[in-house]
Amino acid sequence: MSEPIKVLIVDDIASTLDNLQKLLSFEPDIQVVATAVNGKEGVEQAKKVVPDIVLMDVNMPIMDGIQATEMLAQEAPGSPVIIMSVQGERDYLRRAMQSGAREFLIKPFSGDELIASIRRVYQLEQKKESFLAKSTGTTAAAPAAPADGQPSRRGEHGQVFFFYSGKGGVGKSLIAANLAVSMANETKGKVALVDLDLQFGDIGVLLNLDHSQGITDLIENIDHMDPDFIREIMVDGPYGIKVLLTPISPELADLVTVDHVRRIFSELRKMFDYIIVDSSAHLGEINLEVLDHADRVVVVTSLSIPAIKNTKLALKIFDSLSISPDRVVLLLNKSDAHSEFNKESVEANLRFPIAGQIPNDPKLVINSINRGNPFVTTHPESEISQRIRELVAKVLPPAPAAEPETAEKKPRKGLFARR
Ligand SMILES: Nc1ncnc2c1ncn2[C@@H]1O[C@H](COP(=O)(O)OP(=O)(O)OP(=O)(O)O)[C@@H](O)[C@H]1O
Ligand SMILES: [Mg+2]
Repeated sequence: MSEPIKVLIVDDIASTLDNLQKLLSFEPDIQVVATAVNGKEGVEQAKKVVPDIVLMDVNMPIMDGIQATEMLAQEAPGSPVIIMSVQGERDYLRRAMQSGAREFLIKPFSGDELIASIRRVYQLEQKKESFLAKSTGTTAAAPAAPADGQPSRRGEHGQVFFFYSGKGGVGKSLIAANLAVSMANETKGKVALVDLDLQFGDIGVLLNLDHSQGITDLIENIDHMDPDFIREIMVDGPYGIKVLLTPISPELADLVTVDHVRRIFSELRKMFDYIIVDSSAHLGEINLEVLDHADRVVVVTSLSIPAIKNTKLALKIFDSLSISPDRVVLLLNKSDAHSEFNKESVEANLRFPIAGQIPNDPKLVINSINRGNPFVTTHPESEISQRIRELVAKVLPPAPAAEPETAEKKPRKGLFARR
């Protein structure tokens, strides 16, 4: 068996330390290697034992958990922090999350929640480290990588994540934008966000970007397109992501052809590690081209009959296009909205497993959209942000072995293909 996950627990209440230790002792893949009773001691212990995960209380004497988390982000970046707090401390916690805490558990939490959180943060850290080690030998402390003049660390194999839904308005733009930002922050890789909802794309608004140029500026110069020019046309978003926006007016969308898209993506794959693509529901040639070559197809659905019906149709089409189910990640958005359906009934209906659930949070979402600030940056401690981070971990390729370079793809069966 591989090495257990080494955990340091920092809490000033002896009985809590004791309970957490007992709880974790039942898990063969988790080992509590040290405990500490205040933030200062926590930082000292973390430097000494180099744990894989630090479980951190907030209110403690001498040094509180927030300050300790800030110090750990600087002094022990390889030991990610999970904060444990009571409900009323949310505002303090936002600061802690922004300064490096990775997850946030509200007391009282269940053993299952705690264990799932430890495994999730650990796995994401593993992926991040293997990714960084493979590339430049840098450490996990590297800042988010802006799309500078350097090629992507994955060489020509930037991964494409294509967001799709057979139904409009289910939340794919919102999730794609927040996932892109979160991915840049979590992996420190080079991230591009491409808005392929060419007529009415919302990414510019969702991220409050200056929309004075977009994909049509690229295609006007497609024969002279090089990485510098592409970077110039892309707009800077949060955490160093680069965004390729839609044409500045809907009628210009028709100028974009499949060939343009193919050429643009071929360049983007060389420049970026991760390319997140938002789309429209229309399964036209352009969407099919990207879909066909995407490493992951993230299908967003919700708890309504039209969304479920169209998701079913989309999955059927993917099947007839020989898109392997392994490449498809099904997401249920607004998963806790009141509905006669639930996750299980949707899975039974679609005969497809739901890989992730995003909760309904109208207040936070509407504020985030109206201000053009992604909620993963303004409210990293919220449930919805945590689920987005979880999604980052899910869609990234597995940590130790990179995906086979040339995963064999069956040719598209030609439902829509002109070739
Ligand atoms: N998890 C959520 N909680 C609360 N509201 C949400 C959530 N997800 C989406 N919404 C709401 O749904 C609206 C539609 O989201 P979004 O624009 O991302 O959908 P879309 O699938 O991209 O739609 P379109 O097909 O029109 O591009 C948002 O404006 C937001 O108000
Ligand atoms: Mg959209």
